Amino acid sequence: MTTFLSGIQPSGRPHLGNYFGAIRQHVDSQEEEGEHYFFIADYHALTSVQDADSLRANVREMAATYFALGLDPERVVFFRQSDVPQVAEITWLLSCVTGMGLLERAHSFKDKTAKGIKPSVGLFTYPILMASDILAYDSTIVPVGKDQVQHVEMAQDMAGHFNAAFGSQVFVRPEYRLPESEALAKVPGLDGEKMSKSYGNDLWVFESGKRLKKAVGRILTDSREPSEPKDPAGVLLLDFLALFLEDTELEDWRNRIREGGQDAPGYGHLKVRLIEAWEETFAPARQRFEEYLADPAALDSTLALGAERARERACIVRDRAYRACGLR
Ligand code: TYM
Repeated sequence: MTTFLSGIQPSGRPHLGNYFGAIRQHVDSQEEEGEHYFFIADYHALTSVQDADSLRANVREMAATYFALGLDPERVVFFRQSDVPQVAEITWLLSCVTGMGLLERAHSFKDKTAKGIKPSVGLFTYPILMASDILAYDSTIVPVGKDQVQHVEMAQDMAGHFNAAFGSQVFVRPEYRLPESEALAKVPGLDGEKMSKSYGNDLWVFESGKRLKKAVGRILTDSREPSEPKDPAGVLLLDFLALFLEDTELEDWRNRIREGGQDAPGYGHLKVRLIEAWEETFAPARQRFEEYLADPAALDSTLALGAERARERACIVRDRAYRACGLR
């Protein structure tokens, strides 16, 4: 039996990287046979969001985003992480079989601290909570963007260590799944670095109108003239267009940039096309997003129903793990 699982932090508004790297994969996976668990990682978000009203608002926005983008809570178990306390219980079991060295090697932790983010113990042990999220539902496939691959590999290690220590097949080994191309697995931000909420270089998927124009205007360019031939690989706007356009159209833009000359497009042309493609992709969902958001009680009750279903599964796995290590 295939069990899909993935999570997203409600630490701000979902951005293009979240969509192309993860959310779209989650929505598409609904067409595949199996069970589907997707959740809003509010425990994880506490490592950066420390304001109760913001966290509550972000959770609802994230739920409204998923539903607007096509997630069907009838087909998928969709819930809030903190509604499943068994995950916190399993986190402790895993932390007892996880070496400090494993966590010290986490790229995400190292990148964040290198950027000056002051680490809490929670940020350090974050991969253990994430492993517990994955293992608590016997997940087999975890669709994520590239930055989460190492965390899924850590979950594999932790499952292996626990099973080796307690002599039984308690936890199922999960595998990660990346989107179909590198361009989608690691979406760049406004500055060309990986797009990330914590780096402040992100673009909200439902940005629109003047704000969208302004945001797209902030994508890094240089002062070369349109007529100057350029290597398309060095034009960040083309990486953004690659998210939206068909291959043939994208290739055409690339060729015209490479050749330069009188008729070559300038960065302004690329921006206009990007905004147009963005509108085509997100405008209908943006409308639905507003509608979902206007009914917070409905969002809360959908999340509560999902949580009930999630707890059922997590209790079975928690009991299995407790018995294996002598806690029952
Ligand atoms: P988070 O909230 O940072 O990101 C959510 C998903 O978006 C993907 N992503 C990207 N993909 C492509 N390009 C980017 N620039 C980009 N930025 C983000 C991430 O890879 C992720 O798939 N720890 C996780 C949340 C989590 C989780 C889990 C995920 C908690 N428990 C269990 C999977 C399974 C996180 O912080 O994702």
